[in-house]
Amino acid sequence: MSYLTDKLRADAAAARGDAEITHVPGQMLDDVLSKMPMKRRSMLRGSIGASLTAIFGASALSACGGGGDDTPSASTPAATENFAVGFQKVDAAVGQKVSVPANYTSDVLFSAGDALITAGLSYQGTALSLSELEQVGGGQHDGMEFYAIPGRDPNKNGLLAINHESTDGFMLNLADRTAPDAIKARLSNVGVDIVEIKLNETSNKWEVVVGSKYNKRYTGNTNYKTSGPAATVVGDVVGTINNCASGSTPWGTYLTCEESTDNYIDPTQNENGYGWVIEIDPLGELAALATPVKHTAMGRFDHENTAYMLNANNRMAFYMGDDSTPGGIYKFVPDGSYDPNNRAANATLLTQGKLYGAQFKPDGTGVWLELTQGKNGLVMGATDPGRTDRTTDTPTLVDFGTQADVVLKCKAASRVAGATQLDRPEWITVGADKKVYCALTNNGSRTVTDAANPRSTNPHGHIIQWTEDGNDAAATTFKWEIFLLAGSQKLGAANLKGNINGDEFSSPDGLRIDPQGRLWVQTDASTSSGTTSVFGNNAMYHVDQTTKRSTRFLVGPDGCEITGLAYTPDLKTFFINIQHPGAGWPVAGETFGRSSTIVVRHNEGKPVGA
Ligand code: FEO
Ligand code: CA
Ligand code: CA
Ligand code: CA
Repeated sequence: MSYLTDKLRADAAAARGDAEITHVPGQMLDDVLSKMPMKRRSMLRGSIGASLTAIFGASALSACGGGGDDTPSASTPAATENFAVGFQKVDAAVGQKVSVPANYTSDVLFSAGDALITAGLSYQGTALSLSELEQVGGGQHDGMEFYAIPGRDPNKNGLLAINHESTDGFMLNLADRTAPDAIKARLSNVGVDIVEIKLNETSNKWEVVVGSKYNKRYTGNTNYKTSGPAATVVGDVVGTINNCASGSTPWGTYLTCEESTDNYIDPTQNENGYGWVIEIDPLGELAALATPVKHTAMGRFDHENTAYMLNANNRMAFYMGDDSTPGGIYKFVPDGSYDPNNRAANATLLTQGKLYGAQFKPDGTGVWLELTQGKNGLVMGATDPGRTDRTTDTPTLVDFGTQADVVLKCKAASRVAGATQLDRPEWITVGADKKVYCALTNNGSRTVTDAANPRSTNPHGHIIQWTEDGNDAAATTFKWEIFLLAGSQKLGAANLKGNINGDEFSSPDGLRIDPQGRLWVQTDASTSSGTTSVFGNNAMYHVDQTTKRSTRFLVGPDGCEITGLAYTPDLKTFFINIQHPGAGWPVAGETFGRSSTIVVRHNEGKPVGA
């Protein structure tokens, strides 16, 4: 969550007199491939969309649909391609620029206010009408996935699904609008953009295909359906909000995650309508998702992202973090199995399944506690302890009479069941080796420690890692360890030093292991000079999973956080989001910054990371 969002939500919560726990400032394409015949693997590798939270190219599978031919694609990475990390590290820096390694280039692809639906319609400094605002790029770019378009070379053409966590106020002209219109204008700036992009082979630059039939916006003013145990309680919902990070499914749909359980921009809306995972079909083909669906079975909390693990028998787990202070880690195991041969049948898989909360035990083992009404204390008159990272909360009574109660009051259900509450779970990623990582970004207010949250006051955060017993997505037990503690040896106090091997950072947020098993970490630390004087601006690092060696790959402009990571299947193009940059980036001289998606490539066409 952005500190900007924290501020917005805090004001709205205070106005309501709401005592809700709030924030403090602050897969595996290879997994799928390994179970397929070699010929089909190479076809998938080449033609599939490597959206990769789950690194499995969700879209890849959609592109293949299971029914295509098995001819290797021309875009299949050459067998001799070297994916070893060898880039020259970037030094910590401040200033209004993006820094990348020697022999790399970064370009701005798509900024807030840019043309998307209609040629020539973009924010050029003159106020746009409400309907025009719904046709241009949203603000505060965050989670992002890449999808192949069937029949096209995905290394040169595809779709980006981009989350917009909050608003880029520069393009909204709020002072010139009536109060109701100002609300609609703000809501037009959040949600999801589906953006067709292609490599212009003349200029050798990626560009947006404005007006593409695939281009679409799902905003805070769009209609959504609901599924699952709370569907009848919640009903249809107008709008989405706080579209933070995201994920994909094996069947090529996009999961946008709402990191707020209330619509703080328009509090008159459905009070149970937010804090869900929403499924969108980027290709616009699935009838069941013609109107995007908020899946209530996956729980209502401050969702960060989703990342999935797929078993050999096509059973799945979707991992999810609650970015709360503190918040739980969850997994959702659909009752049904993924069918590689029937994309339409998969479109209802997230409507029914079991939800679990993770309990991290001091001995390095863990248990997935089932969050089902009637189990693990989830009954009428249950006692919710409140925040477990401090001693000042007074327990309250909570009623869990139905499964709808459990998913609607999911944070309380997690605490009642005994799930560990961690220092703000941000992104989760699953490697091809089935190791799962979660960034715990920070918690400067923790006073009570436990094995999984070892630092009393933890302003720099840590990364936790676990492995399911039997490497089974549906396992109910796991083994875990702390992967690293963030911080800097330059800092005096023991709780600030951390144990990073190599380039130090604070507040890990975005995490993604690419299909070649390379772990990328993106930061969202304070942008105050006290922090940037130690760590530089927010940045992106490669961290070796084995040696834990951290190497800085990219540094963002002043004021930004780095988030969102998607790539083409050949890994030669990385798409990265620069959220809430300060004034003058990317357009020098402007009195504001424009949140943007950038493209990063090696100048000699090698895979990114080389
Ligand atoms: Fe939107 Fe928790 O970051
Ligand atoms: Ca964050
Ligand atoms: Ca985040
Ligand atoms: Ca943010």
